[in-house]
Amino acid sequence: MHILQITDPHLHGRADRQVRGVSTDTSLRSVLGTALAQFPDYEALLVTGDLVQDDSGGYARLRGICSSLRKPVLCIPGNHDDPATMARELCAQPFQVCGARGFGAWRVVMLDSCDPGKVGGRIDAAELARLDEELERCDGHALVCLHHHPVAMNSRWLDGIGLANAAEFWRIIDSHANVRGVSWGHVHQAFDGRRGGVRLFATPSTGAQFAPGSEHFAVDGRPPAFRHYELLPDGHILSRVHWVAALPSVSAATG
Ligand SMILES: [Fe+2]
Repeated sequence: MHILQITDPHLHGRADRQVRGVSTDTSLRSVLGTALAQFPDYEALLVTGDLVQDDSGGYARLRGICSSLRKPVLCIPGNHDDPATMARELCAQPFQVCGARGFGAWRVVMLDSCDPGKVGGRIDAAELARLDEELERCDGHALVCLHHHPVAMNSRWLDGIGLANAAEFWRIIDSHANVRGVSWGHVHQAFDGRRGGVRLFATPSTGAQFAPGSEHFAVDGRPPAFRHYELLPDGHILSRVHWVAALPSVSAATG
């Protein structure tokens, strides 16, 4: 079972806008084109937040880029998204916003960690209860996705804008034996760790990256990227970040 993850594309309504020196539209098309060419047999595309840069016109842009995909595009909101607008704009196939989706022995559980008006995240009581129910119902293996990081990234400024109620999140995860991985965006950098038996994954943006381990906000010079997961029937996860060094002119991603 192959899943592709892209995150933090920060799209605008206009194609020529840039964020931190990167043309977000061109960069996303390039990353997606590379990912789909490399892994044509993927089962779903996961998009873990900050789909737009505070511009709801960006959702139409994402529809234009992804509407020809014949696989589910599973989206969760980030702090630069408006969750209600995003759910409205991405209500048709191939998009799914939050909820959960089963793939063979696996269930991908997607959480809304947005705290209105804040850069950092918080999972509200209803969403925590839904997580608990989803995991209770899952008789296979679960991959849990959210925008904000639920563990320290060892970066002072980033660790001030992570998941505020991470202890509550982990209490629920720890009470179920079926969670094999937790995956997030937000931090614009790669991370591959482990907490007990749970694999932890952060994925770089399809645009500009943040410098790992930095005390203050700092942009990194690393290129755009995506992550590939192979979810094995026995619960193991194989995963790697793929950096897309060059930005060839890809007019549209298909697949
Ligand atoms: Fe972001």
